Amino acid sequence: MKIPERKANERLVEYAERLSALYSDALRPKDVKPKGQFFTPKQVSIFMAELFDINQDKITLLDPGAGTGVLSAAFCEKLLSRKKPVSLVIDTFENDPEIIPFLKRVLQECKKDLEEKDSKVGFNVLTKDFILTNEPYLSGPGLFERGEKFYDFVISNPPYYKVGTESPYSRMMAEFICGQPNIYAFFMTMAASMLADKGEMVFITPRSFCSGLYYKNFRKWFLRKVRITRIHIFESRKDIFDKDGVLQENVIIKASKNGKEGIVTITTSRDKDLNELGRIEVDYSDIISPKNSERFIRIPTSEFDVKILHIIDKWPCTLEKLGMEISTGPVVDFRAKEHLRQELMKESVPLLWMHNMQNMRVVWPSKKNKKPAAIASTEKTSPLLLPVKNYVLLKRFTSKEQRRRLDSAVLKQSEFPYGSVGIENHVNYIHKPNGSLSVNEAFGIAALLNTGLIDNYFRSLNGHTQVNATEIRNVPLPDLSVIKKIGEVVSKAKDLPANLDEIIGSELGIDAEIIKHLEERYNGKNR
Ligand SMILES: C[S@@+](CC[C@H](N)C(=O)[O-])C[C@H]1O[C@@H](n2cnc3c(N)ncnc32)[C@H](O)[C@@H]1O
Repeated sequence: MKIPERKANERLVEYAERLSALYSDALRPKDVKPKGQFFTPKQVSIFMAELFDINQDKITLLDPGAGTGVLSAAFCEKLLSRKKPVSLVIDTFENDPEIIPFLKRVLQECKKDLEEKDSKVGFNVLTKDFILTNEPYLSGPGLFERGEKFYDFVISNPPYYKVGTESPYSRMMAEFICGQPNIYAFFMTMAASMLADKGEMVFITPRSFCSGLYYKNFRKWFLRKVRITRIHIFESRKDIFDKDGVLQENVIIKASKNGKEGIVTITTSRDKDLNELGRIEVDYSDIISPKNSERFIRIPTSEFDVKILHIIDKWPCTLEKLGMEISTGPVVDFRAKEHLRQELMKESVPLLWMHNMQNMRVVWPSKKNKKPAAIASTEKTSPLLLPVKNYVLLKRFTSKEQRRRLDSAVLKQSEFPYGSVGIENHVNYIHKPNGSLSVNEAFGIAALLNTGLIDNYFRSLNGHTQVNATEIRNVPLPDLSVIKKIGEVVSKAKDLPANLDEIIGSELGIDAEIIKHLEERYNGKNR
């Protein structure tokens, strides 16, 4: 394919973006997914390059998974705008041989523009696998002595697709992963290993690494290796890579090697036009709470969110400290198909689904989409069944339309006259492994989980609509005596009280202004 020339007055990023589009249309459609090729729009590329603090005049830049080089082009534009000649070396890694001629053309144009302004530019296009080629960087001390090259700046929009545990990447990165992570985290790992002292990396990625379970070891390692200094979050899941139809909540993060745990600026925009909706400055400990063993990376997006984090972070307990545990409903419908019953009949017990949770109570039977209302109670199903006790149920999934991500109800033993019960897999349940929850404990926990207060906290932690048990295990909770008091008030109400935040706010002495704001946000008509 003949690569079109750059037009007169066409900016470097515009040229790269045009080539990305051309390449996508002409060569790519069949296999978008396996390569994870989603190209960065020029506005986003410029935004990312703008985040670097460039003070030196000898610069090494790494662009892993370079595509047509739009991010390198944005970096070069930033250098051009500084109007100070530099000596620049760009190393790009790109393992798709078909895109390499496009990448080379863009880099030649970058070189030409910068050299016209008295800079010196060299570039290396490495048609290699970025992860496998750079394995020596993971082997710890001695790298420098072995003459490995380190980079002042890394800019990347890495590929993203799930990596199986048997892939050579996973075997190589075994210490950083658990479960089935995504290739983008391997790119971040490698990039952080290749940073020079005080070097900076800017990545655009899905938000999942911030709280996902598979990324726990990665987070621990990454946060030891580099400091996050800047976060930008896109509110909309669409739009950023709209040509490619990617539905992801994306973040841009900047991290520095040997940087200080100082102030982190967080900005928000709706879409790729990057019109700023919000900007806040927070302490490092606000995003990475020292209390949190999972090393979740929290992203509050307003001063209000930060206030809520501060309130809840002070609460002294967790489920574990309270002697409670959260588990996932053991009945997976398609696996237990032969045991499911449309209605309760002989030798069967009720089966609870998300739709049985209504206004903080369990309503059973309550039919939806012909879902079976019962499960056989036999020797075979006994591992799937639970003795009826007081439980807190928590939905594992909520729809985007729902105001709250957390939706909890109480299964009250005294109102549920059965010996055992099945809990379907989309529902988590909170229980006491060595006993049973009292009515007040159950209502206290459910009420807390249903507040705007905890919902708001949770949203800083988690960008998706799924609620993982691990995340709930890490949510701080008040003392048991306070929980019981809340439970006492709430259990008497017939329905989910509309003023839960008020009830909890007064028990916990929370500023009335904050409660008012929450009530407006969660109960107001405009949301
Ligand atoms: C998400 S695209 C981004 C491209 C470009 N950086 C941009 O921002 O438009 C990721 C690129 O990484 C390349 N890639 C995927 N796996 C790779 C690997 N293991 N090593 C090097 N490049 C890889 C893909 O071919 C793709 O061009």
